[in-house]
Amino acid sequence: MATHTNPAQPTTLILGARGTVGSALNPLLTALGHRTRLATSRPPQAADEVHLNLLTGEGLSTAFAGVDHAFLMAPPGHINQDVLLAPVIDAARAHNLKRVVLMSAMGANADENAPLRLAEKQLQATGLAWNVIRPNWFMQNFNTFWLQGIREQGQIFLPTGQARGSFIDARDIAAVAAALLTTDTHANAEFDLTGAEAIDHDQVAALLSQATGRTIGYTEVTPEAMRPGLLAAGLPAAYADFMLLILGYFKAGYAERTTDAVQRITGRAPIGFAQYARDYREAWA
Ligand SMILES: NC(=O)c1ccc[n+]([C@@H]2O[C@H](COP(=O)([O-])OP(=O)(O)OC[C@H]3O[C@@H](n4cnc5c(N)ncnc54)[C@H](OP(=O)(O)O)[C@@H]3O)[C@@H](O)[C@H]2O)c1
Repeated sequence: MATHTNPAQPTTLILGARGTVGSALNPLLTALGHRTRLATSRPPQAADEVHLNLLTGEGLSTAFAGVDHAFLMAPPGHINQDVLLAPVIDAARAHNLKRVVLMSAMGANADENAPLRLAEKQLQATGLAWNVIRPNWFMQNFNTFWLQGIREQGQIFLPTGQARGSFIDARDIAAVAAALLTTDTHANAEFDLTGAEAIDHDQVAALLSQATGRTIGYTEVTPEAMRPGLLAAGLPAAYADFMLLILGYFKAGYAERTTDAVQRITGRAPIGFAQYARDYREAWA
C-alpha cells in the first residue's frame, strides 16, 4: 500500500469500509479519481485494506499515515461513541487532514451530552474542514436488523406504532459523503439526511410486499417483547436498551421530519422506498 500522497489523487481513509455505507462510498470515491484506504478491525484481505480497531486503538497511526481525507463513523453495538472516536479525531487533527466527514445520527444533537454529539463537537473544534452528517433510520435496516421476522414470519415486528419515518437509503448517505469529500462547497456544515417522504411501517410492509410478491405485514410489539430478540441476536444489553430508547423516539414522531439535504448536495432526489425494495427484493425471498 502506498503511503505517499499524490495531490492530484487524494487518499481517503474510510472507517466502516465493509459496512452498509462504507461499502457504497468506496466505489463512488474511486470513480471520482480518489484513492481509498479501507479500515477494518479484521485481518486485512486486500492491498487497499488497513487494520484499525476502534475498541483498542490498534492500527490508528498506520491507518492515518499519508491520508488526506477521512470518513468517520462509530461501529454499531457500542454506546460510548465519543470515547471510541476521540483518538480517531485526534489522529485526524495530528495528520492535519484536509477534509473530514463524520457520520452521526439524526437526533444526536437533541442532547448536547449525547456521545455522538460530543464526537461531533470534538471534530468541529479541530479547526479542520469538517462535515457532520446525521442520517435518519436507514432503509437497509429492513434487509439487516429487521430481516429475520420478515423472512421467517412475513412480519416487521417493531414498537413504533403508526409513526412515520423519512427512511434514507444508505446509498444516498454514501453519495452525500462522496460529494462532501471531493468538493469544498459545503465545508464546515452539518446536515440531517432523510428520504424525500415519511411513511409508516404498514406502508413499508406494503412496499416490501409489492416488490417481493410475498405478503409482508407489520405487527406492533412492545419494547419489552422486543428486547429478548435483540439480546438473542447478539446485541450487548446496553445497546439493546439504546435501540429500544431510540425506537421510542421513532414512535413519538421524531423520525418524521424530512430535509432537502440529499437533493441539495447530490443534485438529485433521494432514492424512494419502492426503489429500495425493488433493488433488495432478493433479501426477503
Ligand atoms: N442503521 C441506522 O438506521 C442508522 C441510522 C443513523 C445512524 N447510523 C449510524 O451508522 C453507523 C453504522 O453504519 P453502517 O450501517 O454503514 O455500518 P455496518 O454495516 O453496521 O458495519 C459496521 C462497520 O463497523 C466496522 N467495525 C466493527 N467493529 C469495529 C471496530 N472494533 N473497529 C473498527 N471498525 C469496526 C465493521 O468493519 P469490520 O468488521 O471490517 O471491522 C463494519 O465496516 C453507526 O455509527 C450508527 O450509529 C445508523
